[in-house]
Amino acid sequence: MMTGSNPQGHGRVIKADADAITEAATALQAGAVVAIPTETVYGLAADASNAEAVANIYRTKGRPDFNPLIVHVPDHAAAERLAQFDDRASMLAFRFWPGPLTLVLPLQPDAPVAKAVTAGLPTIALRCPAHPVMQAVLRQSGLFLAAPSANRSGGISPTRAEHVARSFGEAMPLVLDAGACAAGLESTIVAVRENGWQLLRPGPVTAAEIAHLLGEPPLPVTEARIEAPGQLASHYAPSKPVRLNALEATPDEWHIGFGGISGDDNLSTDGDLAEAAARLFDALHKADASDKGGIAIAPIPSEDIGVAINDRLRRAAA
Ligand code: TXA
Ligand code: MG
Repeated sequence: MMTGSNPQGHGRVIKADADAITEAATALQAGAVVAIPTETVYGLAADASNAEAVANIYRTKGRPDFNPLIVHVPDHAAAERLAQFDDRASMLAFRFWPGPLTLVLPLQPDAPVAKAVTAGLPTIALRCPAHPVMQAVLRQSGLFLAAPSANRSGGISPTRAEHVARSFGEAMPLVLDAGACAAGLESTIVAVRENGWQLLRPGPVTAAEIAHLLGEPPLPVTEARIEAPGQLASHYAPSKPVRLNALEATPDEWHIGFGGISGDDNLSTDGDLAEAAARLFDALHKADASDKGGIAIAPIPSEDIGVAINDRLRRAAA
């Protein structure tokens, strides 16, 4: 499995039934990279303790290696083998796991993870996903799974198995297909620091929910060091120019509408932000594949998950 020109796997999209989950778990134990659905986006997973397998993630994505990876765990108890949880971290895990929240915490000194996973940082990003397929693969394999979004670095994140297949082409790994992801935006990333907490990436769990639980507002994030690629200006970019807050499109633009602004496609005719988040990346993939030269996107209110939608849109337009 690790030899030959396609070390990533078999290059097939298979329905995520019990046999497929067993095949994926076995392949991961042998060091392969497998694309697995989560409730946020599809992840490109590999055994976090296997340096060669982790290198294959970076190679497949074409990701610059200063970007560390999120490690997925089946539950809080497993997470404590990898990171040190203080009371605040435990509260967050208790409230939001399993679910779309990633915690950046101090790395346990003896954590069984390859150096490339944390890219040399003294911290580690952990997430306990809610998706039944990812949960089943974690439990059957018994592994901690490092998994960035299953797209080439800088491209649009995948919310469907077809997006994964299109992004990797010939280099496609084994892909477990469980249809569209429910949340559709990457997890919220929160760093728990000694003197407070930071929002490193907005996502489905809002900053207001975190602030309410911890009883304090976030610390500012200094841009001195890029810790989350979400902070790279041109992340999530389609291959065409993107124009935001567009009430109308020019004849050469594909118009993504919202609410009453109908467009060529519409994120949510009811103006529902959760529906818009779930559909956003699929709409960008469609817009990118259209015969128009540019993409225009209707205004989206910056409230609740709309904050995360606008964060991704700004980066798509940068
Ligand atoms: O929803 C998600 O989070 C998806 C699914 C597959 O779980 N994964 C995902 O991974 O979005 P990725 O690699 O595209 O984004 C991981 C983010 C990056 O922005 C990375 O820089 C940040 O997590 N990160 C990882 N370790 C970190 C650390 N120790 N400190 C700060 N940021 C970290
Ligand atoms: Mg990504």
